[in-house]
Amino acid sequence: MNDYLLEVRHLTKHYGKVAALEDVSFGVPRGSVYGLIGPNGAGKTTALRILAGVLEPDGGEIVIGGRTVDGDKRYWAGKIGFMPDFFGVYPDLTTYEYLDFFGRAYGIPYEERTKAIDDLLELAELGHKKHEFVQHLSRGMQQRLCLARALIHDPDILLLDEPASGLDPRARVEFRQLVKRLQVRGKTILISSHILMELSEICDQVAILEKGHLVAAGDIDSIGKRVTQVRRLEIKPLGDPSKLADAVSGEPKVLDVKVSDGVVQVEFSGSEKEAAALLRSLVRQGFDIISFGGAESDLEEVYLSLTKGETQ
Ligand SMILES: Nc1ncnc2c1ncn2[C@@H]1O[C@H](COP(=O)(O)OP(=O)(O)OP(=O)(O)O)[C@@H](O)[C@H]1O
Ligand SMILES: [Mg+2]
Repeated sequence: MNDYLLEVRHLTKHYGKVAALEDVSFGVPRGSVYGLIGPNGAGKTTALRILAGVLEPDGGEIVIGGRTVDGDKRYWAGKIGFMPDFFGVYPDLTTYEYLDFFGRAYGIPYEERTKAIDDLLELAELGHKKHEFVQHLSRGMQQRLCLARALIHDPDILLLDEPASGLDPRARVEFRQLVKRLQVRGKTILISSHILMELSEICDQVAILEKGHLVAAGDIDSIGKRVTQVRRLEIKPLGDPSKLADAVSGEPKVLDVKVSDGVVQVEFSGSEKEAAALLRSLVRQGFDIISFGGAESDLEEVYLSLTKGETQ
């Protein structure tokens, strides 16, 4: 039995001839931070808007807490908080008024509402800006305020569409920390981005979309292992690397050899055991090897090999 709080089954959405989503299925485990990644036009916003209940899919199912939510918009809206990829802030309101407005829209009674707002302002580190006009907040603060807004009705699931776009590095770090704090509080978070390194740090699992198709899903390590049958080895010899490069070229499972900065870089299609055999063979041939290692396949490479960097 899985413990998915949120499940997407066979989701399909076409805009005329464009397939924004084509039979996309994935599951978001309860309490996880889940990344939805893909290049521009991959279908991330479409998927999140459907999950938020603001866009009708052509087909497929959304299951929240084991329950198909189709006809039950009320249950659905109560479970989900959505932060869209555009700024929905009202510049003439203060931070407090802004959150209060949305709290009232959800029908949250006064006392509960003011308590929730104080709690959220603290969480988003905006307590000192409670009576500041929204237009006077920094971009990072406005972004955190939008997130606070998405939490006003205390949903279990948060959908964040490219929340870090337009933020400077420091604001990105602060935003990531906020996401982590929310996870600690038990929220399940689905977050989209086309910037992978950003997600690799905070996500437990990811789904990779390209042109409306799901090309991979699962934890980052296992996706990496599955797609990178070709690994990169870096071998540093004592002395002239070109001789070593020549020797390596003749070894089994070696696809390509390059020399850069005194290091021999090898594209290698063998297993770990075969990499160990390569090292043994080189030592036997009399090379003095200072270091021998696999360059970690990072998420960026995995992503590029999966999506070929294509946009739609
Ligand atoms: N309202 C619309 N009408 C027509 N086509 C649309 C509409 N919204 C999205 N599309 C198309 O659907 C595809 C998926 O778009 P979507 O916005 O979901 O992608 P995305 O992954 O969020 O991209 P981005 O990284 O640019 O935000 C794209 O080809 C886009 O042009
Ligand atoms: Mg988008």
